[in-house]
Formats: sequence, C-alpha cells, structure tokens
Amino acid sequence: MEQYAIKGGNPLVGEVEIGGAKNAALGVLAAAIMTDDTVIVDNIPDVRDINVLLNAMESIGVVVNRIDRHTAKINASMISAFVIEDEFIKKIRASYYLLGALLGKYKHAEVALPGGCNIGSRKIDLHIKGFKALGAEVKIEHGLIIADAQRLKGAHIYLDTVSVGATINIMLAAALAEGKTVIENAAKEPHVVDVANFLNSMGANIKGAGTDVVRITGVQKLHASEYAIIPDQIEAGTFMLAAAITKGDITVKNVIPKHLESTTAKLIEMGCQVEESDDAVRVVASRRLESTQVKTLPYPGFPTDMQPQISVALALANGTSIVTESIFDNRFKYVDELAKMGSNIKVESNTAIIEGVSHFTSADLTAPDLRAGAALVLACLTADGFSTVDDIKYIERGYEDFHIKLQSLGAQIDKVMSEKDLQKFKLKVG
Ligand code: UD1
Repeated sequence: MEQYAIKGGNPLVGEVEIGGAKNAALGVLAAAIMTDDTVIVDNIPDVRDINVLLNAMESIGVVVNRIDRHTAKINASMISAFVIEDEFIKKIRASYYLLGALLGKYKHAEVALPGGCNIGSRKIDLHIKGFKALGAEVKIEHGLIIADAQRLKGAHIYLDTVSVGATINIMLAAALAEGKTVIENAAKEPHVVDVANFLNSMGANIKGAGTDVVRITGVQKLHASEYAIIPDQIEAGTFMLAAAITKGDITVKNVIPKHLESTTAKLIEMGCQVEESDDAVRVVASRRLESTQVKTLPYPGFPTDMQPQISVALALANGTSIVTESIFDNRFKYVDELAKMGSNIKVESNTAIIEGVSHFTSADLTAPDLRAGAALVLACLTADGFSTVDDIKYIERGYEDFHIKLQSLGAQIDKVMSEKDLQKFKLKVG
C-alpha cells in the first residue's frame, strides 16, 4: 500500500520550482544514443518514466552515468543489442523512441509494442508509415515491431493525425537518413522543438520544428553535445491549477510562460489573476471560479494532459462548463472517482458536462492514470477532512516529489506506506 494521505482545506500559497519536461526528456534521451560520442543531458526530471527509459537504454549496452539527480552522461558507443524488451515498453509507451533512434543509427531496431497510460486507443500506425516512407521494412512479429533497412532515404511524409510521438520518432530516424525529409502536419509541441534543438546541437540539420512542416536534411554522423531540457509545461500547469482549485496564490518558477498560454487564458476566463514575468507565472484565485468551455487540441491548443486538472477546477466553478476531449477517447475515467466527492459531471462520448458544486467532500480515491491522478490529489486538497489517493505509482511516472512540492506550498499531504502511517498522519495534522 502506497498512497497519498491528504487533509484538505488550506489554500496553497508560495513559490514552486518546475523541473525539466518529462516528455521532452524522453525524446532527448533516446536521441542521445544516436552518437558514439559522450552526451551530457541536464535538467532531466527524476521520475519513473525517465528511469524506465534509462534502464531500457542500459539493457542494450548504453552506458548511463547519473552525475547527479538531474544530469546524466550517456555513451552509446557500445550498444550490443537492438531489442527493447516488453518489460520496459509495458511500463512506458515512449520507449518507442528507441525505435526511431536505433533505426536511424543502425538501420535496425526491434521494440515491443507500446503500453503507457490507458487513456484510450494509442495507435502507432503513423510511426510505422513514416519509417516505411524512409525505406525501412517494418513488420510486427511475436509482439515486437521490427524495423529494418539497407539504407534510409529522405521522403515526404504527411501525418494524417497530428502526433507528437510520430513526429519525434520520424525526426529521429530521418536525422541520419540520406537526403531530405519533409514531415507535414507535424506536431508543434514545445517538446518536439526541444528534441529538434538537441539533435541540431549534435550536428543534425532540422528546420521548422514548432511549425507544422518540419524539414530534415540527413547527416552522416552526430557528435557530442551538452544540453539542458526545457521546463515541464504540464507540471507547471498542474501547479497553476492547484492555485485555482484551492483558492491560493502560487508562483511557478523556472518556466517558459509562452508554453503555458492556453492554460493562462483559461484561468483568466475563470476569474483568476495571472501575472507573467520572464521565467515565472503567478496565479491568484481570490474568489469562486467561473464556468467556461474547454476543448483539448494539439499545441498551441489546450493540452489534453491538462484536461483532468482543469475539469476538477470547473467542477467547483459557478455554472455549467463543457469540456471536450478531442485527442484521446478514454480520458474521463477520473469522473467516477470525483463523483465520490460530490461533483456533478455527466460524460457523453468525448464531452463532459460539468455542473459546478460549491465544495467537495473528502473521500478515498484511486488514481486511474498520471494526469488524472494529479488532478484527484488537487481535488482532495480543497476538500475538508481526510482523503486518500491510491495507485500513486501513476502520479510518480511524471511528477518529481509531487507531495513534497505541495507541502512546501502549505498542503497537508504525505506519502504513506501502511495503515499505521495513515493513522500517524491523521494524528499529526489533527
Ligand atoms: C504524447 C505525450 C502525451 C500527450 C500526447 C498528446 C509523450 C511521451 N506523451 O503522447 O503525454 O498526452 O502526446 O499531446 O510525449 N495517433 C494515431 N496514430 C499514431 C500515433 C498517434 O492515430 O501512430 C493518434 C492518437 O491515437 C491520438 C493522437 O494521435 O488520438 C495524438 O497522439 P500522440 O500525439 O501521438 O500522443 P503520444 O505521442 O502517444
């Protein structure tokens, strides 16, 4: 039993330092194996998904040296196998970036079919379409995706759906292909740009990342680099919503405010004050939130990874809100959990109709996935009395020291391992 024990009711107030972006780090670390030189990557978040990816890299012979909690020295000159086993991929979907990285560098890769959070059907057809367009033969056998090429040749690839994963994976393979690749309808997320910048720092030639057309001119070899990952826009957004939900006053520090614009815009519509400076954003919520409409969209639209957090806020707002999830088809699983706290949300296919209630009551909840898990913790922080959130392994996939950062903002939350710990927590916070 590992769960968060929470006594809600305190507004969260203070400053919180945001770590490196998990989803950018997953792409950058996979890209780091594409050179035989040593690469140093800084601002890596110390979260489970990253540690699983690093273990997967070590399993094929990559030497990973953790200089400190957020910095790794990576040397991939001794790669001895090209098969990424199921045990890693089952835990994190993004191990599939090793497919693009290995295919680009060695023209051969075998990676188990991806897992990851169960937030709906998560296909991989566009990744495969891209690799095939570059000249690879791709087949699925015994649960493995096997990609193999004599040589990779640049191609014109149109993505039918905007996909972060496919854009990054194709960019990785194409960086070491012969000639020019054009990815049309590419994802524009900040982490796509970060992976492109990192590849360029290793000698790749990638232009247009951050727009919907990415142009890659293949190079023969990549070289050493030192690189720092961008701040995590979703971790930052989660703490911004923590201020809104608990009627608090939180400054998220070490962020790129531009990456947070869609969240900022919604918070202002909901009646929060938001102040931006160069690398910080302050959110103050001094009155009851107002209802609004939200539709998740690829960047720069409102991120699907912020949908549960904003829905929790809207569940407490004055009036009726509509939240439409247009990226994944199974991302409202937390609604049943939230109902235990007295929320009033009706889900019809990809839309949630949220009637705001005045307050939540405490409850024992289970995290259904990473972002929904974090959203439920925020809900508990505003509910009077004791709550628990179970299955926090999901939350730890993507948030470093989540409960410690919340504590520093005045939250009464602890990670407990047993019934005895839980009783101790209750005695401590009264
Ligand atoms: C990434 C993020 C995840 C985020 C998502 C959308 C990582 C590790 N994960 O996931 O946190 O929620 O972007 O911002 O960066 N699709 C296809 N075929 C494919 C690939 C995707 O149809 O081959 C569809 C998916 O089913 C989904 C949509 O495209 O409906 C977007 O998915 P995608 O952007 O690929 O998400 P991930 O890269 O898996």
